[in-house]
Amino acid sequence: MSAVRTARENQPAASLWGHVSTSQSFALHVGQPSSTVGGALRSAASELALVTVAPRHDIPRMEAEVLLAYVLGTSRAVLIAHPERPLTPAQLDRYQALVRRRAVDYPLPYLTGRLEFYGLEFEVTPEVLIPRPETETLVELALARRPRSAVDVGTGSGCIAVSLAVHLPEATIYATEISPVALAVARRNAERHGVAERVRLLAGDLLSPCPGPVDLIVSNPPYVSTGEWASLPASVRDYEPSLALDGGPDGLDVVRRLLAQAAATWVSGHRPPTGVGGLASPVGALLIEIGARQGEAAANLARTFFPQATLRVLPDLAGRDRVLEIQT
Ligand SMILES: C[S@@+](CC[C@H](N)C(=O)[O-])C[C@H]1O[C@@H](n2cnc3c(N)ncnc32)[C@H](O)[C@@H]1O
Repeated sequence: MSAVRTARENQPAASLWGHVSTSQSFALHVGQPSSTVGGALRSAASELALVTVAPRHDIPRMEAEVLLAYVLGTSRAVLIAHPERPLTPAQLDRYQALVRRRAVDYPLPYLTGRLEFYGLEFEVTPEVLIPRPETETLVELALARRPRSAVDVGTGSGCIAVSLAVHLPEATIYATEISPVALAVARRNAERHGVAERVRLLAGDLLSPCPGPVDLIVSNPPYVSTGEWASLPASVRDYEPSLALDGGPDGLDVVRRLLAQAAATWVSGHRPPTGVGGLASPVGALLIEIGARQGEAAANLARTFFPQATLRVLPDLAGRDRVLEIQT
Protein backbone atom coordinates (compact mmCIF):
# COMPACT_ATOMS: atom_id res chain seq x y z
CA MET A 1 0.00 0.00 0.00
CA SER A 2 2.39 2.35 -0.46
CA ALA A 3 0.29 4.93 0.78
CA VAL A 4 1.39 4.99 3.80
CA ARG A 5 2.60 6.03 4.12
CA THR A 6 2.91 9.08 5.82
CA ALA A 7 2.46 12.50 4.29
CA ARG A 8 6.20 13.05 4.37
CA GLU A 9 7.10 9.68 3.00
CA ASN A 10 4.56 9.81 0.22
CA GLN A 11 4.89 13.35 -0.91
CA PRO A 12 3.94 12.98 -4.58
CA ALA A 13 0.69 11.15 -3.83
CA ALA A 14 -0.07 13.34 -0.85
CA SER A 15 0.40 16.53 -2.79
CA LEU A 16 -1.62 15.24 -5.69
CA TRP A 17 -4.53 13.88 -3.71
CA GLY A 18 -4.31 15.57 -0.35
CA HIS A 19 -6.38 18.58 0.57
CA VAL A 20 -7.55 20.10 3.78
CA SER A 21 -11.25 20.32 4.38
CA THR A 22 -13.12 23.48 3.61
CA SER A 23 -16.68 24.57 3.32
CA GLN A 24 -15.94 27.30 0.87
CA SER A 25 -18.44 27.42 -1.92
CA PHE A 26 -17.62 26.86 -5.51
CA ALA A 27 -19.55 29.20 -7.73
CA LEU A 28 -20.30 28.29 -11.29
CA HIS A 29 -23.11 30.08 -13.01
CA VAL A 30 -24.48 29.56 -16.45
CA GLY A 31 -24.02 32.72 -18.44
CA GLN A 32 -20.88 33.62 -16.48
CA PRO A 33 -17.39 32.88 -17.83
CA SER A 34 -17.45 29.59 -15.92
CA SER A 35 -20.06 28.22 -18.33
CA THR A 36 -17.27 27.64 -20.80
CA VAL A 37 -14.49 25.10 -20.44
CA GLY A 38 -11.93 27.82 -19.78
CA GLY A 39 -14.05 29.62 -17.20
CA ALA A 40 -15.02 26.44 -15.38
CA LEU A 41 -11.39 25.37 -15.19
CA ARG A 42 -10.30 28.72 -13.78
CA SER A 43 -13.02 28.63 -11.09
CA ALA A 44 -12.27 25.03 -10.14
CA ALA A 45 -8.51 25.54 -10.04
CA SER A 46 -8.95 28.53 -7.71
CA GLU A 47 -11.25 26.50 -5.48
CA LEU A 48 -8.84 23.59 -5.31
CA ALA A 49 -5.82 25.85 -4.79
CA LEU A 50 -7.42 27.24 -1.65
CA VAL A 51 -7.53 23.82 -0.04
CA THR A 52 -4.45 22.04 -1.39
CA VAL A 53 -1.76 21.24 1.18
CA ALA A 54 1.54 22.76 0.12
CA PRO A 55 0.30 23.11 -3.45
CA ARG A 56 2.59 22.77 -6.36
CA HIS A 57 1.30 25.57 -8.49
CA ASP A 58 0.12 23.29 -11.30
CA ILE A 59 -1.67 20.62 -9.27
CA PRO A 60 -5.04 22.34 -8.68
CA ARG A 61 -5.27 23.22 -12.37
CA MET A 62 -4.30 19.70 -13.37
CA GLU A 63 -6.91 18.18 -11.08
CA ALA A 64 -9.51 20.63 -12.38
CA GLU A 65 -8.69 19.48 -15.91
CA VAL A 66 -8.79 15.79 -15.00
CA LEU A 67 -12.26 16.17 -13.47
CA LEU A 68 -13.67 18.23 -16.35
CA ALA A 69 -12.22 15.84 -18.93
CA TYR A 70 -13.93 13.04 -17.00
CA VAL A 71 -17.30 14.85 -16.97
CA LEU A 72 -17.13 15.66 -20.68
CA GLY A 73 -15.70 12.28 -21.69
CA THR A 74 -12.78 13.90 -23.44
CA SER A 75 -9.07 14.47 -22.91
CA ARG A 76 -7.26 17.25 -21.09
CA ALA A 77 -5.59 18.16 -24.40
CA VAL A 78 -8.99 18.82 -26.00
CA LEU A 79 -10.03 21.00 -23.06
CA ILE A 80 -6.87 23.03 -23.31
CA ALA A 81 -7.30 23.43 -27.06
CA HIS A 82 -10.95 24.57 -26.77
CA PRO A 83 -11.41 26.80 -23.72
CA GLU A 84 -14.33 28.54 -25.46
CA ARG A 85 -16.42 25.35 -25.61
CA PRO A 86 -19.72 25.95 -23.78
CA LEU A 87 -20.89 23.67 -20.97
CA THR A 88 -24.51 22.71 -20.44
CA PRO A 89 -26.09 23.35 -17.04
CA ALA A 90 -26.08 19.60 -16.38
CA GLN A 91 -22.37 19.37 -17.16
CA LEU A 92 -21.65 22.32 -14.90
CA ASP A 93 -23.70 20.83 -12.07
CA ARG A 94 -21.92 17.52 -12.30
CA TYR A 95 -18.53 19.19 -12.46
CA GLN A 96 -19.32 21.42 -9.52
CA ALA A 97 -20.36 18.42 -7.42
CA LEU A 98 -17.10 16.61 -8.18
CA VAL A 99 -14.94 19.65 -7.43
CA ARG A 100 -16.71 20.13 -4.12
CA ARG A 101 -16.12 16.49 -3.22
CA ARG A 102 -12.47 16.80 -4.14
CA ALA A 103 -12.21 19.98 -2.07
CA VAL A 104 -13.01 17.99 1.08
CA ASP A 105 -10.13 15.63 0.42
CA TYR A 106 -11.97 12.82 -1.35
CA PRO A 107 -9.30 11.08 -3.47
CA LEU A 108 -9.30 12.06 -7.12
CA PRO A 109 -9.03 8.47 -8.46
CA TYR A 110 -12.18 7.48 -6.55
CA LEU A 111 -14.03 10.33 -8.29
CA THR A 112 -12.95 9.33 -11.78
CA GLY A 113 -12.88 5.60 -10.99
CA ARG A 114 -9.61 5.06 -12.77
CA LEU A 115 -5.89 5.38 -12.43
CA GLU A 116 -2.85 4.62 -14.53
CA PHE A 117 -0.38 2.15 -13.07
CA TYR A 118 2.62 0.73 -14.90
CA GLY A 119 1.29 2.19 -18.15
CA LEU A 120 -2.12 0.51 -17.84
CA GLU A 121 -5.42 2.05 -16.84
CA PHE A 122 -7.08 0.40 -13.83
CA GLU A 123 -10.54 0.73 -12.39
CA VAL A 124 -10.41 1.83 -8.77
CA THR A 125 -13.26 1.99 -6.29
CA PRO A 126 -13.31 2.98 -2.61
CA GLU A 127 -13.09 -0.74 -1.78
CA VAL A 128 -9.51 -0.97 -3.07
CA LEU A 129 -6.28 0.81 -2.28
CA ILE A 130 -5.37 3.40 -4.89
CA PRO A 131 -2.26 1.97 -6.59
CA ARG A 132 0.83 4.02 -5.77
CA PRO A 133 3.73 4.88 -8.07
CA GLU A 134 6.27 3.33 -5.69
CA THR A 135 4.61 -0.06 -6.14
CA GLU A 136 5.82 0.05 -9.74
CA THR A 137 9.29 -0.67 -8.26
CA LEU A 138 7.90 -3.98 -7.01
CA VAL A 139 6.52 -4.77 -10.47
CA GLU A 140 9.87 -3.92 -12.13
CA LEU A 141 11.74 -6.23 -9.77
CA ALA A 142 9.22 -9.03 -10.30
CA LEU A 143 9.33 -8.72 -14.10
CA ALA A 144 13.14 -8.76 -14.11
CA ARG A 145 13.00 -12.29 -12.68
CA ARG A 146 10.79 -13.55 -15.50
CA PRO A 147 8.97 -16.07 -13.29
CA ARG A 148 6.93 -18.84 -14.91
CA SER A 149 4.50 -18.64 -12.04
CA ALA A 150 3.85 -16.04 -9.38
CA VAL A 151 1.34 -15.16 -6.72
CA ASP A 152 0.34 -11.60 -5.85
CA VAL A 153 -0.78 -11.67 -2.22
CA GLY A 154 -3.40 -9.03 -1.33
CA THR A 155 -4.11 -8.10 -4.92
CA GLY A 156 -6.61 -5.28 -4.25
CA SER A 157 -7.34 -3.66 -7.61
CA GLY A 158 -5.21 -6.36 -9.23
CA CYS A 159 -2.69 -3.78 -10.42
CA ILE A 160 0.36 -5.95 -9.67
CA ALA A 161 -1.06 -9.26 -10.88
CA VAL A 162 -2.50 -7.78 -14.08
CA SER A 163 0.71 -5.87 -14.87
CA LEU A 164 2.71 -9.08 -14.44
CA ALA A 165 0.30 -11.06 -16.62
CA VAL A 166 0.36 -8.43 -19.38
CA HIS A 167 4.16 -8.34 -19.46
CA LEU A 168 4.75 -12.08 -18.90
CA PRO A 169 2.52 -13.71 -21.52
CA GLU A 170 3.78 -17.22 -20.71
CA ALA A 171 3.31 -16.98 -16.97
CA THR A 172 0.51 -18.11 -14.71
CA ILE A 173 -0.32 -15.53 -12.08
CA TYR A 174 -2.30 -16.25 -8.95
CA ALA A 175 -3.80 -13.35 -7.02
CA THR A 176 -5.15 -13.77 -3.51
CA GLU A 177 -7.36 -11.34 -1.64
CA ILE A 178 -9.36 -11.46 1.58
CA SER A 179 -11.89 -8.81 0.51
CA PRO A 180 -14.53 -10.17 -1.89
CA VAL A 181 -15.39 -6.68 -3.17
CA ALA A 182 -11.76 -5.97 -3.95
CA LEU A 183 -11.52 -9.31 -5.72
CA ALA A 184 -14.44 -8.27 -7.96
CA VAL A 185 -12.56 -5.09 -8.93
CA ALA A 186 -9.43 -7.14 -9.68
CA ARG A 187 -11.53 -9.45 -11.87
CA ARG A 188 -12.83 -6.53 -13.92
CA ASN A 189 -9.30 -5.18 -14.31
CA ALA A 190 -8.02 -8.57 -15.48
CA GLU A 191 -10.86 -8.69 -18.03
CA ARG A 192 -10.21 -5.12 -19.12
CA HIS A 193 -6.63 -6.02 -20.00
CA GLY A 194 -7.41 -9.38 -21.57
CA VAL A 195 -5.58 -11.51 -18.99
CA ALA A 196 -8.52 -12.95 -17.05
CA GLU A 197 -7.61 -16.47 -18.16
CA ARG A 198 -4.09 -16.23 -16.76
CA VAL A 199 -4.79 -14.28 -13.59
CA ARG A 200 -6.35 -16.79 -11.25
CA LEU A 201 -8.16 -14.85 -8.57
CA LEU A 202 -8.44 -16.64 -5.25
CA ALA A 203 -10.37 -15.55 -2.16
CA GLY A 204 -8.74 -16.19 1.21
CA ASP A 205 -6.02 -15.45 3.70
CA LEU A 206 -2.60 -14.61 2.24
CA LEU A 207 -1.05 -17.69 0.59
CA SER A 208 -3.58 -20.20 1.85
CA PRO A 209 -5.79 -20.27 -1.29
CA CYS A 210 -2.78 -20.75 -3.58
CA PRO A 211 -2.79 -24.32 -4.91
CA GLY A 212 0.97 -24.88 -4.65
CA PRO A 213 4.45 -23.34 -4.63
CA VAL A 214 5.29 -20.83 -7.31
CA ASP A 215 8.51 -19.28 -8.56
CA LEU A 216 7.79 -15.91 -7.02
CA ILE A 217 5.67 -14.47 -4.24
CA VAL A 218 5.05 -10.78 -4.64
CA SER A 219 3.05 -8.67 -2.22
CA ASN A 220 2.24 -5.14 -1.26
CA PRO A 221 0.71 -5.94 2.13
CA PRO A 222 -0.89 -3.56 4.62
CA TYR A 223 2.09 -2.06 6.49
CA VAL A 224 1.02 1.09 8.30
CA SER A 225 1.94 0.85 11.97
CA THR A 226 -0.39 2.00 14.70
CA GLY A 227 1.96 4.89 15.47
CA GLU A 228 1.95 6.09 11.85
CA TRP A 229 -1.83 6.09 11.55
CA ALA A 230 -2.35 9.62 12.85
CA SER A 231 0.22 11.05 10.42
CA LEU A 232 -1.41 9.60 7.31
CA PRO A 233 -2.89 12.19 4.96
CA ALA A 234 -6.60 12.57 5.71
CA SER A 235 -7.42 11.54 2.15
CA VAL A 236 -5.80 8.16 2.88
CA ARG A 237 -6.91 7.66 6.48
CA ASP A 238 -10.52 8.72 5.93
CA TYR A 239 -11.26 7.18 2.55
CA GLU A 240 -9.00 4.25 1.69
CA PRO A 241 -9.83 0.82 3.15
CA SER A 242 -8.19 0.22 6.53
CA LEU A 243 -7.95 -3.46 5.61
CA ALA A 244 -5.46 -2.39 2.94
CA LEU A 245 -3.44 -0.19 5.28
CA ASP A 246 -3.40 -1.48 8.84
CA GLY A 247 -0.29 -3.51 9.61
CA GLY A 248 -0.75 -3.67 13.37
CA PRO A 249 1.43 -2.23 16.15
CA ASP A 250 4.75 -2.36 14.26
CA GLY A 251 3.25 -2.41 10.77
CA LEU A 252 4.61 -5.88 10.14
CA ASP A 253 1.76 -8.13 11.35
CA VAL A 254 0.73 -9.18 7.86
CA VAL A 255 4.35 -9.45 6.65
CA ARG A 256 5.08 -11.72 9.63
CA ARG A 257 2.21 -14.06 8.79
CA LEU A 258 3.07 -14.04 5.10
CA LEU A 259 6.69 -15.01 5.86
CA ALA A 260 5.49 -17.80 8.14
CA GLN A 261 3.20 -19.20 5.44
CA ALA A 262 5.91 -18.91 2.77
CA ALA A 263 8.45 -20.62 5.02
CA ALA A 264 6.02 -23.46 5.70
CA THR A 265 5.66 -23.95 1.94
CA TRP A 266 9.27 -23.66 0.88
CA VAL A 267 11.57 -24.33 3.80
CA SER A 268 9.76 -27.29 5.30
CA GLY A 269 9.34 -28.77 1.84
CA HIS A 270 5.59 -28.92 2.37
CA ARG A 271 3.80 -29.43 -0.91
CA PRO A 272 0.02 -29.42 -0.98
CA PRO A 273 -1.27 -32.53 -2.78
CA THR A 274 -2.92 -30.31 -5.39
CA GLY A 275 0.40 -28.65 -6.31
CA VAL A 276 0.61 -26.75 -9.56
CA GLY A 277 1.80 -29.35 -12.01
CA GLY A 278 4.97 -28.32 -13.82
CA LEU A 279 5.00 -24.90 -12.24
CA ALA A 280 5.91 -25.90 -8.72
CA SER A 281 9.36 -24.85 -7.64
CA PRO A 282 11.47 -26.23 -4.78
CA VAL A 283 13.00 -22.81 -4.24
CA GLY A 284 11.68 -19.39 -4.88
CA ALA A 285 11.81 -15.74 -4.11
CA LEU A 286 9.68 -13.23 -2.28
CA LEU A 287 9.39 -9.56 -3.06
CA ILE A 288 7.49 -7.69 -0.35
CA GLU A 289 6.79 -3.98 -0.34
CA ILE A 290 7.63 -2.31 2.98
CA GLY A 291 7.53 1.15 4.52
CA ALA A 292 10.45 3.55 4.20
CA ARG A 293 11.51 2.98 7.80
CA GLN A 294 10.88 -0.76 7.95
CA GLY A 295 13.92 -2.09 6.08
CA GLU A 296 15.96 -3.25 9.05
CA ALA A 297 13.05 -4.66 11.04
CA ALA A 298 11.63 -6.47 8.01
CA ALA A 299 15.02 -7.96 7.13
CA ASN A 300 15.54 -9.16 10.71
CA LEU A 301 12.10 -10.73 10.65
CA ALA A 302 12.80 -12.45 7.34
CA ARG A 303 16.07 -13.82 8.73
CA THR A 304 14.18 -15.67 11.46
CA PHE A 305 11.97 -17.42 8.91
CA PHE A 306 14.60 -17.90 6.20
CA PRO A 307 17.98 -18.27 7.95
CA GLN A 308 19.69 -19.57 4.79
CA ALA A 309 18.20 -17.11 2.32
CA THR A 310 19.87 -14.17 0.62
CA LEU A 311 18.16 -11.00 1.80
CA ARG A 312 18.23 -7.51 0.36
CA VAL A 313 16.34 -4.30 1.09
CA LEU A 314 15.89 -2.43 -2.17
CA PRO A 315 15.05 1.26 -2.61
CA ASP A 316 12.33 2.95 -4.63
CA LEU A 317 13.07 5.72 -7.11
CA ALA A 318 13.27 8.22 -4.26
CA GLY A 319 15.99 6.13 -2.59
CA ARG A 320 13.83 5.01 0.34
CA ASP A 321 13.58 1.42 1.62
CA ARG A 322 10.74 -0.07 -0.39
CA VAL A 323 11.14 -3.76 -1.17
CA LEU A 324 12.34 -6.71 0.89
CA GLU A 325 13.80 -9.34 -1.43
CA ILE A 326 14.22 -12.88 -0.17
CA GLN A 327 15.93 -15.46 -2.36
CA THR A 328 15.57 -18.91 -0.84
C1 LIG B 1 -1.75 -2.40 0.49
S1 LIG B 1 -3.11 -3.13 -0.30
C2 LIG B 1 -2.36 -3.58 -1.85
C3 LIG B 1 -3.33 -3.64 -2.98
C4 LIG B 1 -2.65 -3.80 -4.35
N1 LIG B 1 -1.89 -5.02 -4.38
C5 LIG B 1 -1.75 -2.62 -4.61
O1 LIG B 1 -0.53 -2.77 -4.59
O2 LIG B 1 -2.26 -1.52 -4.85
C6 LIG B 1 -3.19 -4.66 0.60
C7 LIG B 1 -4.28 -5.60 0.12
O3 LIG B 1 -4.19 -6.79 0.92
C8 LIG B 1 -5.49 -7.22 1.24
N2 LIG B 1 -5.38 -8.04 2.46
C9 LIG B 1 -5.30 -7.63 3.73
N3 LIG B 1 -5.19 -8.69 4.56
C10 LIG B 1 -5.19 -9.79 3.78
C11 LIG B 1 -5.10 -11.19 4.04
N4 LIG B 1 -4.97 -11.66 5.29
N5 LIG B 1 -5.15 -12.04 3.00
C12 LIG B 1 -5.27 -11.59 1.72
N6 LIG B 1 -5.37 -10.28 1.41
C13 LIG B 1 -5.32 -9.38 2.42
C14 LIG B 1 -6.28 -5.95 1.42
O4 LIG B 1 -7.67 -6.16 1.29
C15 LIG B 1 -5.70 -5.09 0.31
O5 LIG B 1 -6.41 -5.26 -0.89
